[in-house]
Amino acid sequence: MKNQGLPHHMFDGRPVIGICNTWSELTPCNAHLRDIAERVKRGVYEMGGFPVEFPVMSLGETLLRPTAMLFRNLASMDVEESIRGNPLDAVVLLVGCDKTTPSLMMGAASCDLPTLVVSGGPMLNGRFRNERIGSGTHVWKFDAMVKAGELSTEEFMETEACMSRSVGHCMTMGTASTMACMVEALGMGMPGNAAIPAADSRRMALAHMAGRRIVEMVSEDLTPSKILTREAFENAIRANGAIGGSTNAVIHLLALAGRLGVEHSLDDWDQMGRDVPCLVNLMPSGDYLMEDFYYAGGLPAVLRKLGDAGLLHKDTLTVNGKSHWENVQDADVYDDNVIFPTEKPFKEAGGIVVLRGNLAPDGAVLKPSAASPELMQHTGRAVVFEDIDDYKARIDSDDLDVDASCVLVLKNCGPRGYPGMAEVGNMALPAKILKTGVTDMVRVSDARMSGTAYGTVVLHACPEAAVGGPLAFIENGDMITLDVATRELSVNVDEQEFEARRQKWKPIHPQATRGYVKMYQETVMQANEGADLDFLRGGSGAPVPRDSH
Ligand code: FES
Repeated sequence: MKNQGLPHHMFDGRPVIGICNTWSELTPCNAHLRDIAERVKRGVYEMGGFPVEFPVMSLGETLLRPTAMLFRNLASMDVEESIRGNPLDAVVLLVGCDKTTPSLMMGAASCDLPTLVVSGGPMLNGRFRNERIGSGTHVWKFDAMVKAGELSTEEFMETEACMSRSVGHCMTMGTASTMACMVEALGMGMPGNAAIPAADSRRMALAHMAGRRIVEMVSEDLTPSKILTREAFENAIRANGAIGGSTNAVIHLLALAGRLGVEHSLDDWDQMGRDVPCLVNLMPSGDYLMEDFYYAGGLPAVLRKLGDAGLLHKDTLTVNGKSHWENVQDADVYDDNVIFPTEKPFKEAGGIVVLRGNLAPDGAVLKPSAASPELMQHTGRAVVFEDIDDYKARIDSDDLDVDASCVLVLKNCGPRGYPGMAEVGNMALPAKILKTGVTDMVRVSDARMSGTAYGTVVLHACPEAAVGGPLAFIENGDMITLDVATRELSVNVDEQEFEARRQKWKPIHPQATRGYVKMYQETVMQANEGADLDFLRGGSGAPVPRDSH
């Protein structure tokens, strides 16, 4: 260590604070995290700690193939063993892009050293021809406009630059922003962590304060297992409803709870989220972006509203040593257009809906705030795609037998089928339907959906097609019923017919023969259990005694 120019007094037993960094130029959302790490170090030094920054696998949503989600569990193993194997007393997790947040939290939870999460913050608002445009959300919109002949390819390219004009992660309420909110709602981040834009100097100040605080957390032995209780997860589920958050949060929180042994199931999302109004008017469900959310009061203002409505466990502990309520009880809303009053919410139903029926006996999810009200109760003829290649090959064909009342079904895109469970569930509609001006249809799959996407999209159907779930046996022409009010997702196929189809069924998904993907396919659990690897559930603690170094 002395070859780094560290003087001898640094080794006097002061707390060693790991700064676990997902900086990478291949993860553009996290490309500014080295600056953030420097600010954390300032705070650590100020409090007499010894900061050591180290890299872990960084998962960039835009570049990693086949999907960053395939590697969430691998990154969590990197994080867990890096923390456990090194002589650290505590750790600050620097996260941003979608999967970097859950992977680091999962790994750290399995070690259970004092841990504080600092998110990198969202990009500044996108703006194109004086219109507010959001990352992801407008990519889907503009893509559909190009398909419909309403926007040229050159104009589409111009929108890219207008959408990505500062450091930071996607600034819609996509998965990255949702997970940053989850960090704060769970109590694992400093108040204000979620919404401060990455380019705002107050983000740096928050990182500095986090560095100071983590040193105190060592002497308090304030570990994740003391913060991430069942009540903390309930707070997070309700916060997700109030912000109109991403469906991906369901899988990540289930996996995180599994690391801690906290009782938490898919049905909790429906039960806890059922009465939660959506208060936050952000894309993809609404009109505004994270920068606006910050100016309007950010997550503290939302948590306060939940508390006032009796929808928050007020006494849950947070990393700053205070309860949630102590942190947010004075938080005000500064823009009612962005954060709506509870009595007159942006949308009545914010929570994630869990659907069941003979199509998904172990559950499927839908985000009503991003769906079309007129499709919430719908029966339609199935138009089936066997896998993503089949979908891509036929979706825009003039010969595709489809109309706007049909239900698009995509198979073999679950955790095992499309290893990693890609975000392809919000299938773009057939070009010939888009040309008629229709913008939404019911879609059903075992895939995930980007948090920036929208539509009446049923996701995470469990068990997935690749392991012989009922989805595997749906055929063209079957009639599928979605009824959000009764939480039903069913198909008009009786058990006898299902069994006949099951006899003829052959799995079509490829099996990897080596490496991490082989291990993943052999051990990944279904989406309703968080899609973690089965042997990673639980934790092994931190074997290095705190006073041994
Ligand atoms: Fe990283 Fe959206 S691509 S947050």
